Amino acid sequence: MNYRHAYHAGGFGDVVKHAVLAMIVEALKRKDKPFYVLDTHAGIGRYDLGGEQAEKTGEWRHGILKVIEAPEPPAALAPYFDLLRVMNGGLKGSAQDALRAYPGSPRLVRALLRPQDRLALVELHPGDHATLAAEFRRDVQVQVHALDGYVALKSFLPPPERRGLVLIDPPFEATDEFERLTRALAQAHRRWATGVLMAWHPIKHKSEIERFHAAVVATGIGRVLALVFPVQPMDDAERLNGCGIVMVNPPWPLADELPPVLHFLHRNLRRAGKSTWRLDWLAGEDA
Ligand SMILES: C[S@@+](CC[C@H](N)C(=O)[O-])C[C@H]1O[C@@H](n2cnc3c(N)ncnc32)[C@H](O)[C@@H]1O
Repeated sequence: MNYRHAYHAGGFGDVVKHAVLAMIVEALKRKDKPFYVLDTHAGIGRYDLGGEQAEKTGEWRHGILKVIEAPEPPAALAPYFDLLRVMNGGLKGSAQDALRAYPGSPRLVRALLRPQDRLALVELHPGDHATLAAEFRRDVQVQVHALDGYVALKSFLPPPERRGLVLIDPPFEATDEFERLTRALAQAHRRWATGVLMAWHPIKHKSEIERFHAAVVATGIGRVLALVFPVQPMDDAERLNGCGIVMVNPPWPLADELPPVLHFLHRNLRRAGKSTWRLDWLAGEDA
């Protein structure tokens, strides 16, 4: 387990993931009934963008820094951007200097929960688990587990609330991570057919994503929405060209709310060369 998310915190992949994650949680809040969120690969919860690891790659400068001050952000991004302001003393002055704290998925989801909702966090790396557990010590709405995230799907689903979301955000160190992810989606859906599932993945070459999508369709899951978000042409398989998200049972009105958000994010995150985002139903709706 060499992957440390601190090197990538606030990069374009995090921005796209966290924008969509916040929108899903906000959509779940349209009903009063409690919901449950399971984050199977949680990381450490919050990141220091001024720290050695984040500074070494500078990924956040091509990610969150590009969007936080961009003109005309869609209203759907307000919960995510508001949290960044709160965590950074109101972001006064230039974001370049003021932006230091960045919320990982645990901090972001926690900030959006209502008193009746619960969050379970799973992190396998011992050091990262200890940091995460300290971050949420004494928080009665959050449970932190040192466990394999894929095992957690079996242990914790379905939750008693019967409403909610699973975020699956693995490090993609293993060469068979796409296959494991496909099996995990199928398994989680079998255990909890009405749960919302959100799986993030990197994009190198287009063909890899086509294979992954075909495998997800072959699972027979009924409602699947897929986002493909390249920031540069997807032709060089040796580099990270973008990211994608597969969503099972996306809550209303996410599919309608996403296009203006994706348009805004892409306008501000894209790099040289031609790239276009896509949002398609792989199964269900108009697939
Ligand atoms: C991409 S990072 C997670 C980032 C986090 N979800 C966020 O958005 O802030 C992946 C995390 O999974 C952890 N990890 C790796 N293998 C795991 C496993 N089998 N089960 C649970 N966590 C794992 C890594 O230590 C790393 O912290």
